[in-house]
Formats: sequence, structure tokens, C-alpha cells
Amino acid sequence: MRLAGKAALITGAARGIGLEFARAYLAEGATVTLADINIDAARQAAQALGPQAHAVALDVTRQESIDTAFAEAIARMGKLDILVNNAALFSAAPIAEITRADHDRLFAVNVSGTLFCLQAAVRHMIDRGQGGTIINMASQAGRRGESLVAVYCATKAAVISLTQSAGLNLIAHGINVNAIAPGVVDGEHWDGVDAFFAKYEGKAPGQKKREVGAAVPFGRMGTAADLTGMAIFLATDEAKYIVAQCFGVDGGNWMA
Ligand SMILES: NC(=O)c1ccc[n+]([C@@H]2O[C@H](COP(=O)([O-])OP(=O)(O)OC[C@H]3O[C@@H](n4cnc5c(N)ncnc54)[C@H](O)[C@@H]3O)[C@@H](O)[C@H]2O)c1
Repeated sequence: MRLAGKAALITGAARGIGLEFARAYLAEGATVTLADINIDAARQAAQALGPQAHAVALDVTRQESIDTAFAEAIARMGKLDILVNNAALFSAAPIAEITRADHDRLFAVNVSGTLFCLQAAVRHMIDRGQGGTIINMASQAGRRGESLVAVYCATKAAVISLTQSAGLNLIAHGINVNAIAPGVVDGEHWDGVDAFFAKYEGKAPGQKKREVGAAVPFGRMGTAADLTGMAIFLATDEAKYIVAQCFGVDGGNWMA
């Protein structure tokens, strides 16, 4: 029960890694708000997780939605100790085929969404005066470019940079801002990634997944459960001296 008494909001928690983090935080004694644009799935998930889990509708690209969702979550849980900025979109295309609409959509969710959700959380945390934890979901894709993944890689590099600036700015308030950079994590997200590579590299469905899994030094793709240890640790008081860092949890894909 390392998070007993803590209140957490996780964006994009209706499925995948966010949902697994919600499960892990609840098991450690926290109260959790699952915030997602897919409110039906978030509600269903929260119901299955039990009475300490709640769902709120959140579109991280709309300020009004952020304001409403955070106010609702804070009213329901009484406070907010932990924010996990997890909602994100992926896309892939050769540079010559990138559209401005796709670029704008990814930056709106992955970068602006991260910044303004972080802002909503820390305004509350600063007022409350008891510190807090922010965990931003970056990616190994933010460490270096990829031939077909320019926009997503750029958004995740921006998340790492925002983590550094926000970490430096907010530690004076006792708010720890850090990031997790997963490698390749199996799930619905990677089903979509696989489909992009099937299209652009002429691969059979499932082939890219097998290739990236075999290339991980650990020997396989990650699972959402592989990431929960870091997500819990960063939210405990044991991590209080860790500021503005980005941790790879990727089976050895990237050495920082
Ligand atoms: N899966 C991987 O291999 C992998 C690798 C590196 C980093 N990551 C990062 O980890 C995080 C979670 O990844 P995942 O695999 O669980 O992704 P996912 O696609 O399974 O889940 C993303 C969730 O975000 C929600 N979402 C999308 N747009 C939103 C918006 N505008 N407002 C609110 N919610 C919105 C979706 O409804 C979905 O529930 C993301 O930040 C992703 O970039 C994932």
C-alpha cells in the first residue's frame, strides 16, 4: 500500500498503459480518476476497478474540457497528489507525405495536452502547498528520430524537454516532475503502429511487431505491466530527490 491516501488522475486511462497504471495505483491504495476522451470505455473500466476508481470525460486538446475534468476529479477525490500525463496519439508517414492536419493533431494531444494538464494539476498542488508528483509519458521515440515517425518522435522529444523545464520550475513547490520512456509495448496502440508499417514497409500484419520484439535486448516486446513498477516508485516519497528525469523502461532498447 505504497500509495495509501494518495489521489491520482491518469489521462488516456480507458485502455492500454494508462488503464494498467490505474489498476496498479489502486492496488497500492490510491484513489484514481481515469480521464479519457473515450468516456464510455473509461466509465466501464472504472466500474470494473471498484469504488476507488472514477471516470471523467477529458479531451486534452480543449482547455474548457481540462478545466472541467480537473475540477470534477479534485471535487470527487478531495485533492490531487499525482498526475500521469499518458494520453497520446501516434501516426507515421514518409516526410513527403506528412499532412499539416496530422502534425497539428499530434502536437495538440501529445505536447499541448501534456503541458496544459500539467498546468491544471500544479495550480491545484501549489495552492494546496503539499507538493505532488507529475509523470509524463515520453517514449524511446523522443530520444532519436525515426525515418517514418517524424511527428510522433518530435512530440515525444518535446515531452522530455517539457519534463525538464517543468521539473526545474516546480521542485521549489515540492512537485516532482519526471518522465517514463517506454520502448515497444504490446497492446491496441501497437496494433495501430503495426498497421502503419504494414502500409509503408510492405510487411505482413504482425510482422513489424515480431521484428521489434526480437530486437529488444530483453528478448520480447514490453507489456503495460512491465511499466507499473516505475510508475508506482516515481509517485512514492522514496522518489522525492528525483527531479526532471526521463527513465527508459524498455528492456534495454535505449541507454541514456
Ligand atoms: N505502446 C507503446 O509501445 C508505447 C511506447 C512508448 C510510449 N508510449 C506512450 O505511452 C502512453 C500510453 O500508450 P498506450 O500504448 O497505452 O496508448 P493507447 O493508444 O492504447 O491509449 C491512449 C489513450 O489516450 C486516449 N486519448 C487519445 N486522445 C485523447 C485526448 N485528446 N484526450 C484524452 N484522451 C485521449 C485514448 O482514448 C486512449 O484511451 C502514450 O503517451 C504513448 O505515447 C507507448
